[in-house]
Amino acid sequence: VRSHAALLLLLVGCGASVAPGDAGASDACAELVIDAGGEYALDACGAVLVLDGDRVLELWVDAPDALELDGVRAPYFGPSVVGAGEHTLAVDRAATLHVRDHGEPADGARIERSLTWTDAALLDDPSHAGLERLMRTVSDDPGAMLAAWFHRFATTAHSERSGPDQMLASFEAEHGTDPSGWDLDALPFRVTGVHNRIDLADGAHCGELRVSVASIDPLYQPLHLIFLYRQPATSEDLRPDGTAHCASTALRWARLSELDGDPFARAARELLDETLRRDRLLVIESLDFLISPWEWRQWFLEAGALENRPLFQTIDTPRLNAPGPERDAFLAWVSANAAALDARTLLVPDEFRSPSARVNDVVPWIPLDLSGLETSAFPALRQNLEIVGCPACHASDADFVQTRPDRTFSPFYTKELDARAEHLLALTAGAAARPPFGPLQADPVLPP
Ligand code: HEC
Repeated sequence: VRSHAALLLLLVGCGASVAPGDAGASDACAELVIDAGGEYALDACGAVLVLDGDRVLELWVDAPDALELDGVRAPYFGPSVVGAGEHTLAVDRAATLHVRDHGEPADGARIERSLTWTDAALLDDPSHAGLERLMRTVSDDPGAMLAAWFHRFATTAHSERSGPDQMLASFEAEHGTDPSGWDLDALPFRVTGVHNRIDLADGAHCGELRVSVASIDPLYQPLHLIFLYRQPATSEDLRPDGTAHCASTALRWARLSELDGDPFARAARELLDETLRRDRLLVIESLDFLISPWEWRQWFLEAGALENRPLFQTIDTPRLNAPGPERDAFLAWVSANAAALDARTLLVPDEFRSPSARVNDVVPWIPLDLSGLETSAFPALRQNLEIVGCPACHASDADFVQTRPDRTFSPFYTKELDARAEHLLALTAGAAARPPFGPLQADPVLPP
């Protein structure tokens, strides 16, 4: 438990000269004890900041360019780790100093606390993140919504998959023909993980929290679902210019690493209670192999129904490999944006995406065809275009599934978690760069 005792001491105006005519000025130090940050009037002679331990601080003044910390001038500092001891703060003219104290720096990040939860005590209790609760974030009639959605798998124009629809018939046999009356937690699904995706923070928000669920029906599997929820920036995550650094949210996740047992369970529950709400729901993703081949889809809540829209960052290889005007337009776009696409920093426009992606597990990888383009400056361009999309990332260093029904991980996800732990710690100290799309790990296995 962290104490918020007087860890910071601000000594203002110590013995320095003051503006002429300032009757109240004296040579004595005004001592201000800061416990949770605050606002302080600084005169032109500055102050001394005394810390009795390392702290993550954010500092700024209202007067642009007027602030200097330990001899370094900037309009805004932090969040960053400011070490124990004395620090000089100088301002050119009287200004209001803002100190935001984020507390002690993070002391490491354990994967199973700060990055992904597979804790049975947590996940096996459906009141935490069970299917009923998840589907309630989609609809007030979660059973009817699930039934309509599973039926929709079989009726979209681009894909007719009857597997989920057949599952409904088996649920009806077991639980009655009215889906509104089903207890969704009694259906054969298992929560496989809660995933911290703060690595998806983009300067406006702090990424996502995700809950993955797998079918454990003896007949109808593999079928995997993942529910994506927004993790918004809190007021403590925002710089004075309104952009988000997410250090506060990152510290909250990192500090879960200090907890076990009941304190961890309580903190986890609190995060879930804040997050698993309709206004945070972004999309549901599905991955199924009820019938060959594997298929990935994204489902958005639209006018009261879950609808399958074009997949995020997933290039429609079969369509764009075929000669014709669509391929020509695609190659022109790749050619004009090769550097950004190779760096995985560009959004793929809807027109080049596919509404569902499929991979046949017994057929070798069918590459995106870039023939006709001069790509020698970017030898891995094709793979970088592919790896940001669903199928390549799930099939290159994983056996299609990243979080298995037994709550173990693919090699890809295992490596990704190490990279995410490092990234989380960097975020807590304001030292993370925004990652590209696709894998966070430095040297991912790319498609063949
Ligand atoms: C950069 C690699 C990558 C890409 C691209 C990607 N995924 Fe995943 N996917 C993962 C990882 C890793 C997990 C584990 C949870 C997490 O990290 O968010 C996962 C989890 C899932 C799950 C839960 C089952 C499982 O395999 O763990 C589904 C369903 C899923 N993804 C669907 C999709 C869909 C649909 C797309 C395309 C829109 C997609 N994924 C794109 C890496 C990726």
